[in-house]
Amino acid sequence: MEPDLTTSIGPIQLNKPVMLASGILGISLDVFNRLYRSGAGAVVTKSLSTEPWEGYPNPTIFSVKGGGWINAVGLSNPGAENFAKMIEPNKDVPIIVSLVGSIPEDFEKMIQQFENCKVAAYELNLSCPHVAKVGLEVGDDPELVKKIVSTVKNSTNVPVIAKVGLGTTHYLNTVGTAIESGIDAITAINTVRAMAIDVETQRPILSNKFGGLSGTPIKPIALRCVYEISSKYDIPIIGCGGISTWEDAVEFFLAGASAIQLGSAIGDNWIDVFDEINTGILQYMEKKNYSKIKEMVGLAKKL
Ligand SMILES: Cc1cc2nc3c(=O)[nH]c(=O)nc-3n(C[C@H](O)[C@H](O)[C@H](O)COP(=O)(O)O)c2cc1C
Repeated sequence: MEPDLTTSIGPIQLNKPVMLASGILGISLDVFNRLYRSGAGAVVTKSLSTEPWEGYPNPTIFSVKGGGWINAVGLSNPGAENFAKMIEPNKDVPIIVSLVGSIPEDFEKMIQQFENCKVAAYELNLSCPHVAKVGLEVGDDPELVKKIVSTVKNSTNVPVIAKVGLGTTHYLNTVGTAIESGIDAITAINTVRAMAIDVETQRPILSNKFGGLSGTPIKPIALRCVYEISSKYDIPIIGCGGISTWEDAVEFFLAGASAIQLGSAIGDNWIDVFDEINTGILQYMEKKNYSKIKEMVGLAKKL
C-alpha cells in the first residue's frame, strides 16, 4: 500500500503530521492559509488571553551562538475575542487555538468566544516559562491543572490538549493530573527556562532577564520527555522542541508521538520546512514499508 501522511491524535484527525507550534507566525488567517497550503497539517495560534496583552519591551528574542533562540516575548496577543472574530471566516485550515490564563473561568470565557469558529482543538498553555501567574506557574500547581482541565472539558466538545514543560513540579505528574482530569492529548514540550548575559554591559540581554530556550539545543530533551510520557501513560502525544528535519520528526514518532509541532526551524528554513519534512517522512515510510504513521509510533520502546 502507498504510504500516506494522515494521523490521529486521539479524536483529532490530520492530513499531515507536521504542525506550526504556538507563538510562531500564529497571528493571521492569511498566514494560516499559506502555511496550510505549504504542508502544515494544522496551525497552533499564539497563546491567547482574556484581554489583549502588550508583552515585554525589547529585547524579547536572542539568537544563541551554536543554535537555538531564547525568547521572552511576554505572551503579547490581541486577546481571545478579537482573535476569534479574525478567524471566523476560516473554513479549511485545521486551527488549534492556544489559550493561556490563571483560573478556570479565564479558559471557560475564552472558549465561549470561539463558539462561531471552526476550531480543531484547544491547546492549554500550562508551560510558558517566563510570564507570572500563567503558563508554567499554572502547570506547576496540580490542583489548578485539575480544575482548569475539568472546567475546559465540561465547557466544550472540541478536543483539548495540554501543553507541558519543565517546571518545578515533575512534568510527568502534571501529565498524570491532566489525564485524570480528562485531557485528550499532550503536547511536549514548551521552551526551557534560560538566559543570556552581555559581557560588555554585564546585564541580562532580555528585558525580562529570563526567557525560554527553543530550537535544536532542546531536541534531545523534548525527545526524552515524549519517550518518558509514552512509556508511562496511554495518551496521544504531540512532540515539540528543536525539530527541523524529517529525521527529527521520525525520531519523535519512534519515541511515541503521533504528530509534531515546530517553530524555531521556520526562522532557519522559512516555511519550506513543512514540505521538506513531509517528503522525507514519506520516503522513509516507503523504504521501511509503512503505510501509516501509526505503524512507527513508539517503536523505539520495543525491547
Ligand atoms: C518567539 C516564540 C514565541 C512563543 N510563544 C508561545 C506561545 O505563545 N505559546 C506557547 O505555548 N508556546 C510558545 N512558544 C513555544 C513554542 O510553541 C515551542 O513549544 C518551542 O519553541 C519549542 O519548539 P521549537 O524548538 O520548534 O521552536 C514560543 C516560542 C518562540 C520561539
